[in-house]
Amino acid sequence: MSDILTKLTYQTFQQGKNYFGIAHRTLSGRLKEMISPSDRQIKPVSGELIFKLQQRQNNLNEIDWQDAERGIYPVSLLFDNPWEDFFKYYPIVWLDLPQIWERNKQKNYQDFSAEINTQGYPSYYVQNFHHQTDGYLSDLSANLYDLQVEVLFGGSADAMRRRILAPLKEKLKVFTDVSFNQLRVLDIACGTGRTLKMIRNALPQASLFGTDLSPAYLRKANQLLSQIPGELPQLLQANSEELPYLDNYFHGLTSVFLFHELPPVARQNVINEAFRVIKPGGVFVICDSIQLSDSPDLEYMMHGFYETFHEPYYRHYMTDNFEERLQQAGFVDIEMQVHFMSKYFIARKPN
Ligand SMILES: C[S@@+](CC[C@H](N)C(=O)[O-])C[C@H]1O[C@@H](n2cnc3c(N)ncnc32)[C@H](O)[C@@H]1O
Repeated sequence: MSDILTKLTYQTFQQGKNYFGIAHRTLSGRLKEMISPSDRQIKPVSGELIFKLQQRQNNLNEIDWQDAERGIYPVSLLFDNPWEDFFKYYPIVWLDLPQIWERNKQKNYQDFSAEINTQGYPSYYVQNFHHQTDGYLSDLSANLYDLQVEVLFGGSADAMRRRILAPLKEKLKVFTDVSFNQLRVLDIACGTGRTLKMIRNALPQASLFGTDLSPAYLRKANQLLSQIPGELPQLLQANSEELPYLDNYFHGLTSVFLFHELPPVARQNVINEAFRVIKPGGVFVICDSIQLSDSPDLEYMMHGFYETFHEPYYRHYMTDNFEERLQQAGFVDIEMQVHFMSKYFIARKPN
């Protein structure tokens, strides 16, 4: 009985976040049309497509519930939500909107506050992805990022991230001679640390590592991760194309929502680098956006995504062949999954 109640509470929680996301997107869209109207006509999403999306989201919630129920991670993780950030920063999400609209209108994709040092980063990185204020390079951006992503995905961003946990845990079982506290897992482009927090819940004893190019996002990740029990994950500023680790070091490596923001050459460099640092027998789990091949019915939305939000590499990403890229690096046993708006590749480095 209590399981049924918990499941109902979880479904209601997800539904509530979804309605909140819809309300936010509708209101902010109307406000934009009043204050900063665009010349581009946005075709409304059909009722049929909305129904399909709702079904995909419900399926995601069901799998999320099932994975918690079978002990991949604690049920409490399903209700994890950055409430403090929500109350502190949600009003700022609204206050920031006029700047976002202006950058969008002016096609200004490299707009950074004067105090931000943009030197030393790859040129593909120094821009305002999603028209975000300061790109990934300020504390303001790091504080608003998770709220913005949650609104975009109708409260399902974490449920999509959590889909990496079951394959990660399953594939790590090959290391039968390694105790849990000797397992090393790296999350590349860890952003504000939400995925690392989830991995900590699923693998409480493993040694966790996170890298990202943004010092501000790493600072935010450090804040989040220092609040949870267990060893503090080691965070390092690093380009995923050149990881500062020894060959064959990690048992598992994860990447969430990185690849669609990389140009094609960088994508292959990151996959090659992942292969280098993973141990023979180890696993690489990728979570990123859906692609045309798995979701042709959502093609219209995918084109809308890179046009509406500034996502300069997404168009190429939509048709990029990741299976080929992973094989080219040397990975084998490549599996693929799709959940709601995300796609997953699970690949093994041969022994
Ligand atoms: C869309 S965010 C995803 C963040 C996080 N993984 C998540 O689940 O929300 C992309 C992240 O990739 C980082 N990033 C982009 N290019 C990178 C690169 N070449 N090396 C390391 N981090 C990179 C950004 O700083 C940002 O934190």
